[in-house]
Amino acid sequence: MNRGGEYEKHFGAVPSVIAVAPGRVNLIGEHIDYLDGWVLPVAIDRHLVIEASATEDGFFEFVPVRAGFGEKVRIGPDEVFPRAEKRERWLNYLLGVIAGYRGEGIEVPGFRAVIHGDLPAGAGLSASAALETATALVIETLTGATRSVCERALLCQKAEHDYAGVPCGIMDQLAVGAGRAGCALLLDCRDLSTRSVPLPEDLVIVVADTGVKHALGDGEYRLRREQCEAALAFLGAASFRDLDPALVEAARGRMDDTLYRRARHAVTEQQRVHAFVGALTSGDLETMGRCLREGHASLRHDFEVSCAELDGLVEAGYAFGAENGHVGTRMTGGGFGGSTVSLVRREAAESFRAHLEESFASQFDRRPATFITEAVEGAKALLL
Ligand code: GLA
Repeated sequence: MNRGGEYEKHFGAVPSVIAVAPGRVNLIGEHIDYLDGWVLPVAIDRHLVIEASATEDGFFEFVPVRAGFGEKVRIGPDEVFPRAEKRERWLNYLLGVIAGYRGEGIEVPGFRAVIHGDLPAGAGLSASAALETATALVIETLTGATRSVCERALLCQKAEHDYAGVPCGIMDQLAVGAGRAGCALLLDCRDLSTRSVPLPEDLVIVVADTGVKHALGDGEYRLRREQCEAALAFLGAASFRDLDPALVEAARGRMDDTLYRRARHAVTEQQRVHAFVGALTSGDLETMGRCLREGHASLRHDFEVSCAELDGLVEAGYAFGAENGHVGTRMTGGGFGGSTVSLVRREAAESFRAHLEESFASQFDRRPATFITEAVEGAKALLL
């Protein structure tokens, strides 16, 4: 991937810092990071890059180059506030992080930033968390402030809450920051501890982007969180994390059906994370595949965050067949569009990818963007 050079092309000078942040897929543990759950994301080999230098006049200048965000913009030091206009909303990821460091007493200098990379935006692969994290690393490098991966993730999550208006959990920001090459990350979203779980070397990750743009800010994501809280209150439980699924079943007849299904997703998804990690550790591909399949069905029917294009890709994935090297497929991330993640044997990856594209095209009359990827290290910055 092209990590540098865009700044020089644009400004005719070398930048003083380059920050590189990967995207992520989530293998399992969907919509339970904001419920204190355990989740299992992977930082992937698609990155967002910011090349930057401090300005002398205190202004911020942001130049996105084929990054899937908006247009170049210049912002005064006193103009760091949330943007509501659609075409300006992408700025919230940068401005929210600047505001976060200022709020901690750091004097953030104005800086010029060229934003580029090969991580697609709006594909459910955490381009927003990558943009926040890269911005945070630029600020830390320019100011000498240092934060732990967890502190940085929390600051970026706050930017997403306060500026972008999305009440997200902590998974994306932690995955982008804490990625480990060759490993999935078992994140405990209650205490923010992380355990690396090695992925089998003969498996690769195949991502397929439906092209259906999700907008988590549009209210459905927030609604799911509220429904989960209402379900917990009804059940008189503090958390779904250790809740016995039998208690949810026992309440079925008394509970609003939507709340019951949200609760059933939360408790069964938590169980699937543990079952999946056990199977991953023992190399039980069949159980891994079953967890991914059941996880998708639960997101589709109980949590209702899937869509026809995601369901089509998942069905196409399983139709390829375990005997041909397919392990499992599910939607990944917040849903309502975005991408699917598949685990596939390395030697079958290219034909699997072609199969997904063809099946999708025969159903929806256009080809999805697909790519093969692996687990990589988390975000880093380099002072030049
Ligand atoms: C989005 C959010 C995450 C998480 C996922 C669903 O990606 O940013 O915090 O809730 O959706 O698992």
